[in-house]
Amino acid sequence: MSLKAGGIVILDYGSQTAQLIARRVRELGVYAALLPYTSTREHAQAEAPDFRGVILSGSPSGIYEPNAPTLPAWVLASGLPVLGICYGMQLVTKAFGGEVGRADRREYGQATIQVSDSARLFAGMDAAQTVWMSHGDRIERPPEGFTVLARTDNAPYAAIARPERDLFAVQFHPEVTHTAHGLDILRNFVIGVCDAQTDWTPANFIDATIQSIREQVGDGRVLLGMSGGVDSSVAGELIHRAVGDQLVPVFVNHGMLRQHEPDDVIALGENLAWNLVAVDATEEFLDNLYGVSEPEAKRKIIGRTFTEVFEREAQKQGELDWLAQGTIYPDVIESAGTGRPGAKRIKSHHNVGGLPEQFKARLVEPLRDLFKDEVREVGTALGLPDAIIWRQPFPGPGLGVRCIGEITWERLEILRAADHIFISELRAAGLLREGTAQAFAMLLPVRSVGVMGDDRTYDEVIALRAVTTTDFMTADWARLDHDLLARVSNRIVNEVKGVNRVLYDISTKPPATIEWE
Ligand code: XMP
Repeated sequence: MSLKAGGIVILDYGSQTAQLIARRVRELGVYAALLPYTSTREHAQAEAPDFRGVILSGSPSGIYEPNAPTLPAWVLASGLPVLGICYGMQLVTKAFGGEVGRADRREYGQATIQVSDSARLFAGMDAAQTVWMSHGDRIERPPEGFTVLARTDNAPYAAIARPERDLFAVQFHPEVTHTAHGLDILRNFVIGVCDAQTDWTPANFIDATIQSIREQVGDGRVLLGMSGGVDSSVAGELIHRAVGDQLVPVFVNHGMLRQHEPDDVIALGENLAWNLVAVDATEEFLDNLYGVSEPEAKRKIIGRTFTEVFEREAQKQGELDWLAQGTIYPDVIESAGTGRPGAKRIKSHHNVGGLPEQFKARLVEPLRDLFKDEVREVGTALGLPDAIIWRQPFPGPGLGVRCIGEITWERLEILRAADHIFISELRAAGLLREGTAQAFAMLLPVRSVGVMGDDRTYDEVIALRAVTTTDFMTADWARLDHDLLARVSNRIVNEVKGVNRVLYDISTKPPATIEWE
């Protein structure tokens, strides 16, 4: 039986927190598929076989807007339990003839609900609950046959239900942590009302995935681009456990990795008993980048060279049948959505190079059902080291986009040494896993005058960047302790020859981006 059977379908109406609903449901051990609200029942059935209930997400749209997203007829016709959240509540209200009022202002922030009916959805909870509200329109009159479960001073219909039909709707957001008992509410719905299966665990995932990789690849050989990041490491280990040395992992060192990183990746491959093919292509990359300092040109050259090296190495390995990719669930959701027509390209991202033509239809994507935190859980269950599991994101072009201006081996070495000091100090202060989402050094294309002993210096400038963020779409600069910054600065100017000045970047994203190039 499929591990995804007996779960929940979440229809995505575009709310910022729609993915969070799926993650919370999965925390309960229940598989949740997040699908566009336009999905047919057949599609939902294919993505989540034998699903036991439907959750309708919130939305940035108002229900009275022209072309407002609608509720597909199959949802109510299915007779399955439904939980409408925010906009989802308005859809349910409208569908049954209740009244949704236009708001003249948004209600946003914490509120206290008074629960008047603690059966089912609010079972086992106190009457007064802290919840998180973020809505414009609100329910003026619930539909005929619906009862009120909870109210706030501002929203007389904070939660409503038609219990005998297993229909529930809440104005607030149970998926966010600001709603104190949000997970309990979701549990009551998903397990209490829907009776969903609770088989979605890392151990079950590993067993099922190993089995399905074996079925998929048979005795074929699988090429994997190994970067040393959590996704390629976990994907590789799943494939290795499934088909052993049919896995051909290729690690390309482009010369723009951090201190000790190439050795660490090679050591990991050895520990996992993979036949890792390690290629040092530093010279080729630096030759191609010689004299180039324009950011997009650098990115394009790095991407192109990566593809060339990777394909060349792959060819040396003989017959290869499959290409493994570390695609994860948010990528799948993104490509299933409506896309972002007209969105401008800010940076041309590069990961493991392009897709060699012969693999177009032959992809192995063992992580395509997982959120990032689930990849980490699976990695931990596979016994991968914490340093890999909790490695901060590192861009494909590596230090190439942090060595601002021209890239030379000497400048890369300066940057590597400074970055290593910064990261070591953050690690010692316990700020790598929590406290910063991403932290790194950059080398600027500027020199400045300084004084060392009795001598004048005219040396390079290092900029430090540390940010806090959950989604990397927006970010704030980390409020690092001044003494910590002082120690890092001191060590860099003393230990890294050629640097006499250290800056700390205090820009938010937007308007800045996280990387400078
Ligand atoms: P920006 O600079 O756009 O970065 O705010 C957002 C996040 O994306 C990472 N990043 C990349 N990751 N390939 C990647 O895999 C890339 O080419 C790339 N460029 C930026 C960046 O480090 C940050 O986490």
